[in-house]
Formats: sequence, structure tokens, C-alpha cells
Amino acid sequence: MNAKAIAPANIAFIKYWGKRDAQLNLPTNDSISMNLSNARTVTEVEFSTDFRRDKFWLNGKKRDGNELEKVSRQLDRIAEQAGKKRLFAKVESENSFPTGSGIASSASGFAALTVAAASALQLELTEQELSILARQGSGSACRSIPDGFVKWNQGESDESSFAVSLFPPEYWLIHDLIAIVDENRKQMTSSEGHELAPTSPLFASRLEYLPGAIGEIERAFSQKDFTCFGEIIEAEALSMHAVMMTSQPSLLYWSSNTVALMQAIRQWRKEGVEAYFTIDAGPNVHIICEDKNAVTVKEKLLTFPGVGSVLDNLPTEGAKLI
Ligand code: DP6
Repeated sequence: MNAKAIAPANIAFIKYWGKRDAQLNLPTNDSISMNLSNARTVTEVEFSTDFRRDKFWLNGKKRDGNELEKVSRQLDRIAEQAGKKRLFAKVESENSFPTGSGIASSASGFAALTVAAASALQLELTEQELSILARQGSGSACRSIPDGFVKWNQGESDESSFAVSLFPPEYWLIHDLIAIVDENRKQMTSSEGHELAPTSPLFASRLEYLPGAIGEIERAFSQKDFTCFGEIIEAEALSMHAVMMTSQPSLLYWSSNTVALMQAIRQWRKEGVEAYFTIDAGPNVHIICEDKNAVTVKEKLLTFPGVGSVLDNLPTEGAKLI
């Protein structure tokens, strides 16, 4: 009873920040993302009556404590869905991106784990059912199940909160160049951060502004209007960080290198190189540009003081068995 799956991480253009239900990872808003071709997790799951407990290896290192618990809880959910007695499992995961690169692995990790474990238990699930299960493990993981450009409809309940593909990966050749400016672990995990969102006085107005931004970004997608798209995603990342910074306690994920790079990207635009930034719960900067500008932007990033490395991603398909 074993199976192996691969799943991409994803970058959100409209972010998920705040939960209505922390047990089920039901979000306070819809979000939109792109799957990343060079940030993937491969996971193999084996269930056996020979095992006395769950075991989890990530990048060749055995994991215990919280990391193992989250994996075990996800296996419980999947076995429950299969209506099978829960056997213990061996889970081996490898990330394609460098450890400590600051790229969140929970989305690709839980998407790959869900697809592999479901298959190992001979559960035949639809994309929607897999997305729901992945969401229960980690919210953003539901967006790593469908292909390409993806929308997570917040829904009203467990059954209606899942992600769907808006466009296949080849629809628009947009790069996400991830500039690593800091390899340290983040000060607070996103799971902890989500809980603080409602303490920000800006949270309610963010939730009011988001539906309009989502309508506009969907229009920008359908017209492939990169300028409109870029302006929305930059403003949206700043909106999420404004909520983070003004929550109690305040979360400031940026380092001085982050800010220097944000300023530089705006300057490059003035000079005619069209690129925009977005930033998750950490200091590293995702630079979004069209294919025609990717080489130029990458060169600029690689010589920018404070940038350690750059990971170049294109849109890619969602989680699948291998
Ligand atoms: C800032 O999906 O990591 O990356 O549901 O608690 O596992 P949990 O949180 P997680 O949150 C991701 C937050 C974000 C924005 C985003 O990806 O939409």
C-alpha cells in the first residue's frame, strides 16, 4: 500500500490571510495563485501493518514533534475518508527547492501528501475532494491541486471551500523570480499569523476591498493586461503586510534587503523594465514579470546587493501521482 506524488508550491497574487475556522482552514476571503515549476515536493507514502507508529522524513532528515503530528493528522483525515482502519505509515518527502531558502513548503508538502496517501489507500477522489482534503492540512495547499492559475473560493462550509483552475499553465508565460534575501526561519509561522489578522484595525477594510481587486485581477487575466495585473498584485501584497504590521502583536516580516529590493523594482519600472513584487509571510521577494523581460530582471537580481540566489519559476500543473 504505497504511492508517490509530486506537487508544486504556489505564489498567491491575492493572498489568504485570516481564517473563519482555524480547525478546517476556512479562509476569510477568496485567493488567487500560480503553481511554481521549480518549487516542488515529491512525497512517497507507505502504509503497513508492520509499522508501530508513523515516521516522517523531510529532505533525508527524520522529523518529530509538530511536523510529524501535522502529517499524522492529515493521514487520519484521509484514512477516515477511505473508511479504513488507520494503519501507520512511512512518509518520505523531498523538496526540489533548497532547504532554508525561505520558500514555504506547506502548500506543496500537504498537496503531495494528500494525493499520495489517498492513492495508497485506493481512494478515488475528484480534484475537488483532493483540494478540500489538502486545505484541511494547510490552507494554501488546496491551491496546489488544480493546474496553472488557480482560484480558491472561500465557500461557506467544509464542502464548498476548495480551489479550481482558472487557466492552464501555458495560458500566460509569467515568471516568478524568487529572490532569496534572507535564509533564516521566519519569526512567526503563517498559521500563528492568521490568528492575529482580526486584531488589525485594517483587517475589515481589507476584506471590503478584496472582492473588487479579485474582479479586476480576473479581468486582467482574461485580457492578459500585465500592467493592470502587476499593479493589483503589488497593492495586494502591501495590503496584507499592512494588516500584518498593524496586528497585535505587530508582525514585520521584511528585512532591510526586502525594502531595498522593493524600491529597486519600482525604479526598474521607471526605466522601462516591467516587473512587480509580491511577498508572503517572510522577507524574500517574488518578482513577477513576463517572459520577454525575465532574462533582464534575473540579471539585475543576481547583481543586486543582498540577493543570495534567484529561483526562476513558470506556471505549472497541479499535484499528480508519479
Ligand atoms: C502568506 O496556508 O501556510 O502565504 O492554513 O495555517 O497552513 P495554514 O496557512 P498557510 O498560509 C499562507 C499564507 C500566505 C498567503 C497565501 O499563500 O495565500
